[in-house]
Amino acid sequence: MEPVNPRNNLKNPIEFKDGVPVSLLFDDVYFSKEGGWEESNYVFLEGNRVTAKLEKTEKSKFRVGELGFGSGLNLFVTLEIWKSLDHPRPTEFISLEGYPLPKEILLSLNNSYPKKELWFDELILSYEKALEIWQIDNSRNLWTYRWEHSNLRSHFDLKVFFGDIKHCLPQFPEIDVWYMDGFSPGKNPDMWSQESLRLLKTKSIPGTSFATFSSAGFLRRGLAELGFVVEKKKGFGRKREMISGYLESTK
Ligand SMILES: C[S@@+](CC[C@H](N)C(=O)[O-])C[C@H]1O[C@@H](n2cnc3c(N)ncnc32)[C@H](O)[C@@H]1O
Repeated sequence: MEPVNPRNNLKNPIEFKDGVPVSLLFDDVYFSKEGGWEESNYVFLEGNRVTAKLEKTEKSKFRVGELGFGSGLNLFVTLEIWKSLDHPRPTEFISLEGYPLPKEILLSLNNSYPKKELWFDELILSYEKALEIWQIDNSRNLWTYRWEHSNLRSHFDLKVFFGDIKHCLPQFPEIDVWYMDGFSPGKNPDMWSQESLRLLKTKSIPGTSFATFSSAGFLRRGLAELGFVVEKKKGFGRKREMISGYLESTK
């Protein structure tokens, strides 16, 4: 499927169910209302042991790579933990998005989590500005935003590439941990194709970890074939299983 113009909602129809956006294009939810924050924390942050990696004292940059920016929930969960640490590493959160959500739908995340600081005015404005530029010139598809840590010694950089995964992943730098969050594989095979996994591997180094809510057999086999060690663990809430792991070699 071709990425769509975010202002043309007819091509990217969204419906709200229980206050949560649902993509009618992919017939799937962006995040679950009951425990979406906790689920993101369990699957992606704990699945990749992110807190420990953020706390490492080395000065070098820490890079999170995400497949599917959506409403930004995973970004905000990661950012909140980073802010809560006394001395977190300088961090980059690099994501991609082919079907960017319009402002009104992003703001629904604020309604779902009213006690958290999520989409504030300046951030929304900066997102909309980047989308406008992308609409005029497809080659300018990068949105960036920076948060300074309260200790003034570290910063958190957001980089989101707009466009299809095949176009965006090659633009990523080397990644330390992956959040694989592209709707369920049965509903969105492009995001989980062996070609996408191969691209993801080109942006990984031995030790790079990944986590995802899915434990589909083809995904486990595909990752193992590329040299990733794949481990099953209990899924969040009522979900039976999820997988996480790391790249063992670049064979
Ligand atoms: C489950 S949602 C991501 C949820 C998100 N991480 C969050 O925190 O809200 C999956 C995202 O992947 C995007 N997506 C699906 N297929 C894509 C593709 N082929 N290329 C780029 N993005 C894609 C969708 O538009 C959607 O925003």
